[in-house]
Amino acid sequence: MSDSFILAIDQGTTSSRAILFDKQGHPVGMAQEEFPQHYPADGWVEHDPNDIWSTTERVCRAVLADRGIDAGQVAAIGVTNQRETTLIWNRRTGEPLHAAIVWQDRRTAELCTKLKQEGHETWLRQKTGLLLDPYFSATKIKWILDQVPGARSLAAAGDLAFGTVDTYLLWRLTERRVHATDATNASRTLLFNIHTQQWDPDLLDLFQIPAEIMPSVLDCSADFGSTRLFGGDIPILGIAGDQQAATIGQACFEPGMVKSTYGTGCFVVQNTGDTAIQSQHRLLSTIAYRIDGRTTYGLEGSIFVAGAAIQWLRDEMGLIDTSSESEKIAAALSGNHGVYLVPAFTGLGAPHWNPDARGAIVGLTRNASAAHVVRATLEAVCYQTRDLMSAMAGDGTEAATLRVDGGMVGNDWLCQFLADILGLPVQRPVVAETTALGVAYLAGLKLGWYGSLEEIGRLWERQASFKPAMDEPKRTRLYEGWKKALARVQ
Ligand code: G3P
Repeated sequence: MSDSFILAIDQGTTSSRAILFDKQGHPVGMAQEEFPQHYPADGWVEHDPNDIWSTTERVCRAVLADRGIDAGQVAAIGVTNQRETTLIWNRRTGEPLHAAIVWQDRRTAELCTKLKQEGHETWLRQKTGLLLDPYFSATKIKWILDQVPGARSLAAAGDLAFGTVDTYLLWRLTERRVHATDATNASRTLLFNIHTQQWDPDLLDLFQIPAEIMPSVLDCSADFGSTRLFGGDIPILGIAGDQQAATIGQACFEPGMVKSTYGTGCFVVQNTGDTAIQSQHRLLSTIAYRIDGRTTYGLEGSIFVAGAAIQWLRDEMGLIDTSSESEKIAAALSGNHGVYLVPAFTGLGAPHWNPDARGAIVGLTRNASAAHVVRATLEAVCYQTRDLMSAMAGDGTEAATLRVDGGMVGNDWLCQFLADILGLPVQRPVVAETTALGVAYLAGLKLGWYGSLEEIGRLWERQASFKPAMDEPKRTRLYEGWKKALARVQ
């Protein structure tokens, strides 16, 4: 057992990664590959399905080769993924019908507005926990079926398969044998009834999506088939959307526990136990995990731009050379000098849901510098987290601490400012790869490596804790400034 590992695949928005974990949940090897983003029109974002697959396959091979580990030593595979991103392919030829339409893509905004005006949002929210927004898969599927010539007749003939990225990878890993997803990914499509745990016929009807193209839905920790692509036969025993996987990796197993992941965007998920809370503050109700047929729900706030704003500072504005530089720049300033940046580059997500909002920098004076813009970008990520945490508290549960992860949280200044603005302790775990770790735990549960979630919870270790050190009047003044800036872009 000591030389047995779990291979976690983390297929994200900008890169594919493969991480090997030992039984204690320690990462022992990692390979990563970025792949191109395509922006064929304003507000459109696409990925080439072959890039998604080939980078995934390569990083799996690379991490095994790098560590000198053969398939016989891999006890199981877990898959976690960018959610909502939509693929449709031909079951017979294996050919994708269209590029993958990425979760950030806004091409179906008009359709969403029309459906909202027709009064569909309320019943749809009750069934799915989501809102009518282009973010989710349903309108993207409809778009492909409507726009690709011959798609609807192929679907009627049973030749098409729909999948989120997990489903597509599973289908490829199993060499076309398995067309399935897990409950967390299903819960992001706007087609899955989170109460009955079924694809909902009324929703499929509304979006004119034939039931035949939908994958079967399994628990997150389940037998998803096996792959022979890396040598021996390796079972695939865990699947979860990346934010749900991070919730598991952060061991947020008790109702009220919250994690926030800072990747391309920022996603805050609170465990709400057996109850799917109907948010009064435009947060999403989602499936946090489903294990042994038992569903645990989550309340989620999704911010579309977090790490992407730092990339923007580097790549578009040229204000920094590396992302990590932003920490020193922010820390060297005594304050924000009234400069606020609202990174609404692709509209605003939760709790505002305004697809038409656009970014802005406000409060500039003669002595404002590039450094203030850099600091304002980091601060914005923290203010947006507070927007979400306030909305969550309004829905019922006040969090005691916030567990953070993702690329940005290596920045100590950011973590401290976050604790200051939230007035809440912020905790960073030892294992930063919580998304991949979460799905490794799911596979490990099925393997019997772990007996329960409680046992997994005991493996969680804190690397650093940031305690709020800002006085209340300052916290209030800064946050009021943010709210004013926000009002100007809406
Ligand atoms: O809902 C979108 C989310 O799953 C994407 O996450 O980490 O790939 O930006 P990430």
